[in-house]
Order: sequence, then C-alpha cells, then structure tokens
Amino acid sequence: MKKILVTGGTGFIGSHTVVELQQHGYEVVIVDNLSNSTIDVLDNIAKITGIMPAFEQFDLADAALTADFLKRNSDISGIIHFAAFKAVGESMEKPLNYYRNNLQSLINLLEGMKTNGISNMVFSSSCTVYGQPDELPVTEQAPIKQAWSSYGNTKQMCEEILRFTTLAHPIHAIALRYFNPIGAHETALIGELPLGVPNNLVPFITQTAIGKRGCLSVFGDDYKTPDGTAIRDYIHVVDIAKAHVVAVERMLNGKSKLDLEIFNLGTGTGFSVLDVINAFERVTGEKLNYKIVPRRPGDIEMVWADTRFANEELGWKAEKNIDDMMLSAWKWEKALAEKQSS
Ligand code: WQD
Repeated sequence: MKKILVTGGTGFIGSHTVVELQQHGYEVVIVDNLSNSTIDVLDNIAKITGIMPAFEQFDLADAALTADFLKRNSDISGIIHFAAFKAVGESMEKPLNYYRNNLQSLINLLEGMKTNGISNMVFSSSCTVYGQPDELPVTEQAPIKQAWSSYGNTKQMCEEILRFTTLAHPIHAIALRYFNPIGAHETALIGELPLGVPNNLVPFITQTAIGKRGCLSVFGDDYKTPDGTAIRDYIHVVDIAKAHVVAVERMLNGKSKLDLEIFNLGTGTGFSVLDVINAFERVTGEKLNYKIVPRRPGDIEMVWADTRFANEELGWKAEKNIDDMMLSAWKWEKALAEKQSS
C-alpha cells in the first residue's frame, strides 16, 4: 500500500483530502502542528473511512524535526503539502511570520525529499497568485502579478522555490491553484472550522444563519459587476480533495510532463457575493441578515478559472454545484451547533 504524507492534514482541505486518499487505498500519515485545527478531526476522518490515519504533531518550520521525520518515513511515495498560514488579513499584520512559516516549511520538506529520495510533491497553491487578472477566465499562463498580501506572495515564492528545486533535483511537483474552496463533507463530520471570527464569506454566512453572528457585512457593492458585489469562483472542497488524488496518481504513474506542473482548480463559473447569499437562502429556506459596507482592502474585483487544462491534461473536473456547496456548508454548521450544545 503506497504511503502519502499529508502536511496540514487536520485542516479544512487537508482533512477532506485524507478521506479521499484513504478511500482510494492509500496509507496516510498526517503531520500537523494543530495551530489552526483540532485533533478530533482524526477521529472524524476515521468515522468516515474506518481508518485512523497515522499522526505526528510538530512544526514543519523546524528543520531538525522535519529532517528526522522524513528520515524515519523515507518510504513515503509522495507528499501533499497543505500546512501553511493562510489568512490574508493576518498576513498583512504579521508578514514575517508568514514568510518564515510558509517558506521554511516548504524548504525543510524539499531538503528531506532530496536527502531521502522522496520524489513527488503536490503543493497547495492559490488563485491569489494572479492578483486581479487582466483577462477572464484566467488560465495557468496568465502573468503573475504583484501580490496583494504577504500570504499571496508566499504562494508565489513557494511556486518559484519549487520551479528551481525540481530543475536541480530528481523531484516532481504539481502546484494546484485553488479558487475559493467552500462546503463540507456530506457526512458533516468534517468541514471548515474557522477559529474565532471567520475571514471567509461562507463560514460567516452559515454562522450568521445559525445565530452565532448578528449580521453579515457585504464588503462593497460598487464593483463593476452586474450586481456591484465582487465575483469569485467557489468550488466544493470535496472536488478540490479529489483533484489531489488525481495529481498524486499522475506523478506515481510517471505521467508528469514537466518537473513542475501547475493547474487551476475551479469550476469555471463566477458567483457574486449576492449570488452566494441568494443561493444559500434558496436552498436552506433561511433568511440571511446582511448589510452592505465599504470594500475590504486587498479584495480583487472578480476572478474565475479557465478549467480546460485541468479538465483535459490532469483529467479532473469539478462535479458539485453551488447548491451542493451551500447545503453541505449549512449541514456542517448545524452539526457544529449540535455538538457545541451537547
Ligand atoms: C470572498 C468574497 C469578499 C467575507 C481568500 C484567499 C484565498 C483563499 C480563500 C486560502 C470577497 C466577500 C467575505 C465577508 C464579504 N484562502 N466577503 N463578507 O478573499 O476571495 O480568498 O480566501 O486558501 O487564497 O485569497 O475569500 O471568502 O474572504 O471572500 O463580503 O464577511 O466575499 O469581499 O468578495 P477571498 P473570502
């Protein structure tokens, strides 16, 4: 049974990917420092798949601990690297934390791969590397523009680190540029668990609907979009997770065509903030309390993916629609409320 290391595997996208890997017959070991997730995610993964993943808790920014782990686990067939700080707003207040953590973790992993002959990595990247694209839908060949946050800049820098490291060493990498991952597993046993006040739209919507937040603030309705609110390409987290299994198998089966390959993970359809709110109200029957407030600094106006390369070359296509995303997010929020009240 091939063994895959999933860093950040107790996080939102990581946990959903661990489920898909196990259900595709892979042995999974998770490394996570639990700085933005909780250990009970492991039990919930096991409840879904019947398999408790191996787990070690330490900080991948620690070179010695990471080197030791990879030496002890030199039999892993590949690494899926999620572990990183990812809050856009926080990254503007603490840029050095973001550079140190996000770059050092990747460098430590690559050093260990070089030393132990581990040759495959899937890297968690983001459409934020594009900034505000000049042309839409945005393709993987679109120019990388100046980042609007240190978070986005770390993703750009990590892709460059991968580009030169895979040139110099027998390592293959696939960078997956996520658009906006939302929703939750159909069992409502795992989902997005923002600690504190959510930065992202959909957890704020569901927390407002459940009564944890009083009112959703819609950041600006003066964009040059049909209803004035900003447009994003929202994609179900399970579709994102499935793409990671496809990417790992592409490398394990020797199908990679370049040392570093880059794919957009989106649906190809853009939704405005008001579109998302209307979809949520429609599928749940809940009335959402929201108000329009000024734009959030750093937000781009609109972005959605050109998905042809991922569809044709990677052989992956998003299957779930906005209704699935809203319903699963709502089911997850209700399950959380039940757990917290019991
Ligand atoms: C979506 C839209 C907001 C909250 C970021 C990162 C990206 C990824 C996802 C990590 C925007 C609006 C939001 C709210 C609102 N992060 N909004 N009220 O900023 O597109 O992407 O998170 O992987 O890399 O860049 O996502 O969910 O924060 O915002 O009106 O309370 O919802 O202005 O238009 P974003 P988001």
